[in-house]
Amino acid sequence: MRDERMRRGKRRFDDDDRRFADKRRALATARPSTVDETGMPDTGDPSASWSTWDTAQHGPQPHPSWLVTELAAVDTELGVLKTGKEADVHLIERAVPGTGVSCVLAAKRYRSSDHRQFHRDSGYLEGRRVRKSRELRAMANRTAFGREVIAAQWAVAEFAALGQLWSLGAPVPYPVQLQGTELLLEFIGSDGGQAAPRLAQLRPDPGELRELWRQLVDAMVLMAGNSLTHGDLSAYNLLVHDDRLVMIDLPQVVDVVSNPRGPEFLHRDVQVITKWFAGRGLPPEVADPTALFEILKAEARLV
Ligand SMILES: Nc1ncnc2c1ncn2[C@@H]1O[C@H](COP(=O)(O)OP(=O)(O)O)[C@@H](O)[C@H]1O
Ligand SMILES: [Mg+2]
Repeated sequence: MRDERMRRGKRRFDDDDRRFADKRRALATARPSTVDETGMPDTGDPSASWSTWDTAQHGPQPHPSWLVTELAAVDTELGVLKTGKEADVHLIERAVPGTGVSCVLAAKRYRSSDHRQFHRDSGYLEGRRVRKSRELRAMANRTAFGREVIAAQWAVAEFAALGQLWSLGAPVPYPVQLQGTELLLEFIGSDGGQAAPRLAQLRPDPGELRELWRQLVDAMVLMAGNSLTHGDLSAYNLLVHDDRLVMIDLPQVVDVVSNPRGPEFLHRDVQVITKWFAGRGLPPEVADPTALFEILKAEARLV
C-alpha cells in the first residue's frame, strides 16, 4: 500500500524512529537496583516513572500476553504522537529495567484546559449520570475542577466502549488501563514506535480498497448487532496496520436503539465513511450508503 506520509514526511519519521530506538536501548541497559531520593526509578531518564498499572483500572481479562504487568516496570515517555483540541496522544514504553521485558503503549490524555472545545460534550453528556451535585455545578460553571470532571468522563466513556468492543472481538486497540483523564491503549504501529497511518493518509489500490471496505463492514455489522455505532466515524478515526483496519477514538460510541438520535448517528457514520470509500474509487454498487444503512438497521433490529 502506498503511504502518502512516507513520501511526504519520511525524514521526520525516520528521525523519530531513531530517537525512540535510542531511548529503548537506554532503558534496556538501565539497572533496576537503585531508587533515588524522590522514589523515582534511577534509570537516568527524567521522563521515566514507575508504572501506573498498580493503581489504575484495568482492561478486560484475559490481559494480552504482550502486556507488561510487573510492578517493577517503569514507564518512559518516548514522544508525542498527536496533539489535538480534546486530547493528546503520547507514546510510552513500559519496561522492566534490565530484563528486556517491555511493551509500547499509546497514552491518550484528555485535556481539561481552557482551549478545549466543548461542543461535543453537551449532547452526549446529557444522559450520563454524575452523582455529586458539586460535580454537576462545577461542570455547568466550567470551573477548573468541572473541566477536569468532564475530561475524566470522556476517558471513562472511551475506556468502557473499548472494553466492550474488545470483548466482542471488534478491531479496536486493547484498552490497557484508565487513570483519571488518561487512557493507556495498545499501540497500533511498528515496534520502532512509528504509529500506523490513518486511513485518510492512504491511497489503497482497488484490491486493497475492497479488502478494507470488507473489514469495515464486518466491524460495523458486529457493532450494529450489539446496537452500537462509532458516533464519529471517519477515515481519520481508522488506522491501517499490516493491512488490518483498526477503529479508534470511541468516547462517543452511540447505542443506536436506546439513544433517541441513534439512527441519525448510524446514518451519519454510514454516509461519511461510504463517501470516503467512493471518493477513493470503490464502485458505487459496493460503496452504497443506502444498502449499508439497511443492513446495519436490520442487524440492530431497527426495522
Ligand atoms: N492506539 C493507538 N495507536 C497508535 N496511534 C494512535 C492510537 N490512538 C491514537 N493514535 C493516534 O493519535 C491520533 C488521535 O487519536 P484519537 O483517538 O483519534 O483522538 P482525537 O481525534 O480525539 O484527538 C490518531 O489519529 C492516531 O494517529
Ligand atoms: Mg480522532
